[in-house]
Amino acid sequence: MTVITHIEDLRVLAQKRVPRMFYDYADSGSWTESTYRANEADFQAIKLRQRVAVNMEGRSTATTMIGRPVAMPVAIAPVGSVGMHCADGEIKVARAAEKFGIPFTLSTMSICSIEDIAAHTKAPFWFQLYVMRDRDFSDRLIARAQAAGCSALVLTLDLQILGQRHKDLKNGLSVPPKPTLANWINLATKPSWCLGMLGTKRRQFGNIVGHVKGVADMSSLSEWTANQFDPRLNWDDVARIKQRWGGKLILKGIQDVEDAKLAVASGADALIVSNHGGRQLDGAESSIRALPAIVDAVGRDIEVHMDGGIRSGQDVLKAWALGARGTYIGRAFVYALGAMGEAGVTKALEILHKELDLTMAFCGRTRIEQVDKGILLPGTYPGA
Ligand code: GLV
Repeated sequence: MTVITHIEDLRVLAQKRVPRMFYDYADSGSWTESTYRANEADFQAIKLRQRVAVNMEGRSTATTMIGRPVAMPVAIAPVGSVGMHCADGEIKVARAAEKFGIPFTLSTMSICSIEDIAAHTKAPFWFQLYVMRDRDFSDRLIARAQAAGCSALVLTLDLQILGQRHKDLKNGLSVPPKPTLANWINLATKPSWCLGMLGTKRRQFGNIVGHVKGVADMSSLSEWTANQFDPRLNWDDVARIKQRWGGKLILKGIQDVEDAKLAVASGADALIVSNHGGRQLDGAESSIRALPAIVDAVGRDIEVHMDGGIRSGQDVLKAWALGARGTYIGRAFVYALGAMGEAGVTKALEILHKELDLTMAFCGRTRIEQVDKGILLPGTYPGA
């Protein structure tokens, strides 16, 4: 039995246990994957300043994200098809997040539905919205999130069209997998995944199938995106959605200072510096490199969050030091879920928390809210 001590252990286990097409869907970026790799590599390049003989007792990583108390500045990012990594996956992840005291964000393209999450958790979760050509359907999703008591809407702005991911095309990614010979052969090596899937009814896109006229069987994410996501999405739509939603609004997918200023002008509560985990514009700057300029430009006017490349609590600390008032994990929790279900996600959160807490202490700080750029070695971080 493998002793799990860091997120990489969970990734290795997930690769063994999850059918190849879903593992690859998570563990890939678009085109050359240069942005996907840079998100992690640029965190590694930032060096920390060790301080000694500082009283390290009474430490706390607690803070708030858009006014919500969080045990650490980490939220679960919206990820599509999570319920294909493990049966009832989104419910399991939402439960682990609730127990840990961090926000869970449900993707529009989830397997478990908005109503499923509301029925299985008490803490209000956040809902991520894609804007569809069918505006009535987008409006109905907003109404369903309101009815479920969601406490923030995360509006994704960087996926009107889909970046090409070679592996998904080669694997013939579909939800659920098509009964081809290659899939049967691969599934035969994943017995616990198959058993889990046989025991649940949740095997399709739960927010969509049965909620859109004529969509009884919708298996291809790329086809659905090409046909349904609205390529005309613009800032007027953001204003319309803000008004319709009426609650806390987080804009996801900002990489550019000019767009960050437009996000402030839209009246949103927070923005997420994100390149969609390197899955959209390959060649875009890593999120951690894009962060400081955006914080400098708008950090006083709006809460700035970030995602992309977070694989350890050290990454969370570095992002915080550079001005992110919250971070999001995607692959880190997806691997954990595929590896070990809900217990795996809890384990991943414990790992990140421990790494964050200890690193903060080694840097001579006891409270995350005291951490600033002073913990970073000058010359090693972007914007220095
Ligand atoms: C969807 O959000 C994706 O990145 O596949």
